Amino acid sequence: MRSYSLLAPAKINLYLEILGDRPDGFHELIMVLQSVDLADRIDIRANGSQTIHVRCNHPQVPIDSSNLAYQAVALMSQHFPEQFARFGGVDIYIDKQIPVGAGMAGGSSNGAAVLVGIDLLWKLGLTHDELQTLGAQLGSDVPFCIAGGTALATGRGEKLDSLPGLDNLYVVLAKYRSLSVSTPWAYKTYRQRFGDSYLSKSAFEERQKQIHAAPMMAAIAHRDSPQIGKLLYNDLEKVVLPEYPQVLELRETFEKMGTLGTMMSGSGPTVFALAESLAEARAIREKMQTAIPNPDLELWVTKFRQSGIQVVD
Ligand code: C5P
Repeated sequence: MRSYSLLAPAKINLYLEILGDRPDGFHELIMVLQSVDLADRIDIRANGSQTIHVRCNHPQVPIDSSNLAYQAVALMSQHFPEQFARFGGVDIYIDKQIPVGAGMAGGSSNGAAVLVGIDLLWKLGLTHDELQTLGAQLGSDVPFCIAGGTALATGRGEKLDSLPGLDNLYVVLAKYRSLSVSTPWAYKTYRQRFGDSYLSKSAFEERQKQIHAAPMMAAIAHRDSPQIGKLLYNDLEKVVLPEYPQVLELRETFEKMGTLGTMMSGSGPTVFALAESLAEARAIREKMQTAIPNPDLELWVTKFRQSGIQVVD
């Protein structure tokens, strides 16, 4: 095969706790990550030259070397120079459906899809573990995006333990089209405000052990949707909500509707609400449209998903 099409799903964070500073400048985290059906489609084709070309239908997505899809090819060509010489570079087309700059790992998932696509094009036969180790060099969320599903993520977000799959929950996503939040800004601001109470390195391990007995883990193990909804948590809300009143308004509006639970995803500005059924999710979307009739507000209904990158063609 000289070309592949892959689905690159988005993720939401059901839980995001910041423990403290790491020596590499990142934050030590505990997260519960969940794939959703909303996905980009990535077409990757061997071009017979030694070049990398990225195209995308979304004007805000960079198509130069800052795109994680581009960086994924560059990384693979460094690690596998013989295969790069033999099979050549690639043309990549990104059909962007995941909101951009949204806290939903759209760029990371594109990078993950390209790693999987190159593995197939160059006949490398890499395991998920090997792809995830490579993915960690591209970004903290890339390893999760490869396997997807429901996972507990620690370290920078790259150390993964898969959790029992939750496939019965629906999600309403809300994001203002013109609003995006810089992830580095969110973490930097969090450090400025809460750095004094950061845990020490020795306390990280203790907290990471405790999390396995935490109520959220029990709720997931029992597939207890109402409890999962109640236990949603994101430390980054503490810095993003005060700075972005529109995000706070979305969250409060969902909350007033009495959904299963609502929370900002990642560093935002996407806010999600959980629902037990498709009908309930659609009703929440309609109520949101009525409550905030702003043409800049985009809404999606999607569903929890059990897997990450999927080859479709
Ligand atoms: O790894 P990724 O490129 O997605 O991270 C984007 C930015 O988010 C980092 O440059 C860093 O500022 C912040 N970050 C962090 N700790 C993490 C993950 C991300 O401080 N565990």
